[in-house]
Amino acid sequence: MTFAPERKRLMVANWKMNKTLAETRHYFRELLAALRAVSQTASQPMATTHDAAPVLSGAVEVVICPPFTALAAYREMFPEDVPYLFALGAQNMHMRPSGAFTGEISAAMLLEHGVTYVIIGHSERRQYAAESDEAVAEKSLQALKNGLVPIVCIGETADERAAGETEDVLLRQLRPVLQALALALNEKAASGETSDRFLSATPASNEAKQGRWLDPDQLELVIAYEPVWAIGTGQAATPDDAAQAATFVRKAVEKALGARTASRLRILYGGSVTPDNISGYLEALNIDGALVGGASLDIASWLTIIERARRVGDAR
Ligand code: PGA
Repeated sequence: MTFAPERKRLMVANWKMNKTLAETRHYFRELLAALRAVSQTASQPMATTHDAAPVLSGAVEVVICPPFTALAAYREMFPEDVPYLFALGAQNMHMRPSGAFTGEISAAMLLEHGVTYVIIGHSERRQYAAESDEAVAEKSLQALKNGLVPIVCIGETADERAAGETEDVLLRQLRPVLQALALALNEKAASGETSDRFLSATPASNEAKQGRWLDPDQLELVIAYEPVWAIGTGQAATPDDAAQAATFVRKAVEKALGARTASRLRILYGGSVTPDNISGYLEALNIDGALVGGASLDIASWLTIIERARRVGDAR
C-alpha cells in the first residue's frame, strides 16, 4: 500500500496566530484571483458545487486555516451557493458540543462559517495548552460526528528522536484516536446501526454528512506528521525521514482500522516546508500533502508551493 493516485493531494495553510480579518480578506481576494487563473488552464475543471471537494486541478486540494476571528471572511467570498476554489479549516475546536467552556469554540460554530477541516492536536497546543492524546482523540471524534475532517497532528521532539523513540511516540499519540475510531466502526459493523453516542446534534445544513464517517469507504481522516524539532526552525525533516514516518503511520492505521480506511487516509508532512523543499515531500512514499505554517503567510510563497504540488500531482 504505497502509491495511491486516487488520494487527492492536500495542501493546508496553518496561519497560527497571524492575520486580522482585514488582512485575511485581502489575502483571500488575491488567492482567489490566482487560483482562478490556474484553474482555467488546468486539465480538470474546478469544482462547481459545495458538495464536491474543491479541486484545483488534477488532484490538488487547498485548505486555509486562519484564526477564528477571521473565519468570517470565507462566507463573504463564497456564500453557500457559489463555487469555491479553496476550503476553510480551523486550527482547533472543543470536544463538547456546547456548554460552560469559556474561550472555547464548538464544531457547530465552525460549520456556520463554512469550515470543513479542523487541525487537532497541533504540537503548539499540546505544548502550550497541555492537550493530551486523549483530548486529541475526543476532539477528532467530535469533529467527525459533525462532518468535519480532522487533521490530527503527531510528531516527536528532538530528544525523543535522538533516543530512537520516534515510532513509540507516534503510536502513543495515535493510539487513543485509532481506538476510538475502531470502537465506533466496529459497533456500526456489528449492529448495522449507528448508536446515538456516535452521532451529534449537528445543524441541518450538515445533516447529510452525519454518519458518513462510520463507513470505511467514506471516512475522511488526515494525519499530519510534524516533528516538533522541524516546526518553525528551518530544519525540515528529509523526505526519506518523513516517508519512513508516514509509512509507519499508514501501517498503524491499517492494523487498527483496516486496509480500506488506511488507503483513503491522507498523510501530510509539516515542519519548515518551503517552495524549495515541497516537491521532495510530495514525491516521497506515502505522503499526500503538506501542512505549512510560516511559508503560507506570504501569498507569493504559498502560491509557489501550491503550483509545485500541482505539478507533482499532474505528473502522477
Ligand atoms: P512551519 O509550521 O511551516 O512554520 O514550520 C508548520 C506547522 O506548525 O504546522
